[in-house]
Amino acid sequence: MLVVKADGAKTRQKWCELLSEMRPGLVAKPFDAPDLRAEEATYVLTWEPDPGWLASLPNLRAIFSLGAGVDHITRDPSWPRAVPLVRMGGEEVGQRMGEYIAWACLTLLRNGRDFAVAQSEKRWTYKVGDDTARDLTVGIMGLGALGAAAVPMLRGLGYRVAGWSRSRKEVEEAESFAGEAELDAFLARSNVLVCLLPATVETAGIVNAGLLAKLPPGAGFVNAARGAHVVMPDLVAAIESGQVSGAVLDVFDPEPLPVDSPLWSHPKITITPHVASVARRRARARYVADAIEAFEAGGTLPNLYDPVRGY
Ligand code: NAP
Ligand code: GLV
Repeated sequence: MLVVKADGAKTRQKWCELLSEMRPGLVAKPFDAPDLRAEEATYVLTWEPDPGWLASLPNLRAIFSLGAGVDHITRDPSWPRAVPLVRMGGEEVGQRMGEYIAWACLTLLRNGRDFAVAQSEKRWTYKVGDDTARDLTVGIMGLGALGAAAVPMLRGLGYRVAGWSRSRKEVEEAESFAGEAELDAFLARSNVLVCLLPATVETAGIVNAGLLAKLPPGAGFVNAARGAHVVMPDLVAAIESGQVSGAVLDVFDPEPLPVDSPLWSHPKITITPHVASVARRRARARYVADAIEAFEAGGTLPNLYDPVRGY
């Protein structure tokens, strides 16, 4: 049986219906179903389970994350480490992230924040920068599955693309930089820096004053990964000094961004509420149903969390 723990009773019900429809024979129940017994749960689909809940299910064969990231699951000190943890994947997750990154880069290039402010004040503001996309390099910090999906979209707009990861990548039309030794060279050419790193001990606070100072003056910044990557006072200071010309931020620490945060009204920061890549429920249900089918036929689970790497 697959147990769904997502926000909202109607949402959970919808997930259960979709999963049963896609894989007849798979019984799916919301975690709060009155007749659910803990020992029945063999699979779980969840975003942020209450600490201790996963450990209370003795017969789990796999945990499916509703998102590509799993830090919201692994932050529970008691999550059962022996159970495979599957990160959300599939073509639509990459498509949507690629669209977001392309939109964010164009927002920075074409002064989207200035026009939003001017429109709210009914002010006719003429502002056209010198650069076109062809003059700029987008540097993707964390050139993994989602970063790779963004590359053809950015190339289609005319941007050059560079990527930085732990290991060297072969991604068509993206220059690959790897490891600490190549970080500075990667940053030096990133006119727009895009963060798509997973949240790990190594990547917490990686976007700080020292890193931002290594970007070309006036670079843009996009964060579609996790809020914990960014030392926010350092980013704001870099924007105020002009070292960073503007930012598009989708993720924050904490979330939701508190109403009294000065970031909301910062004239150089565009804010979205953690929506960069939310694949349709149907696409994600298909991914989970197919994975379970393959697993039960003796195959391996896709996109597994690696406890050694931490993502
Ligand atoms: P992924 O395929 O695992 O890619 C992660 C990339 O980061 C890999 O290239 C990896 O390098 C690199 N990396 C990890 N640690 C590093 C380090 N210490 N130094 C240098 N590079 C490092 O993950 P993904 O599917 O692309 O997802 C990335 C993240 O996006 C997720 O973890 C999640 O937090 C975030 N996300 C956000 C949204 C949203 O709506 N805002 C939606 C989906 C995902 P190697 O491959 O060499 O190991
Ligand atoms: C969203 O943030 C995800 O990890 O999919």
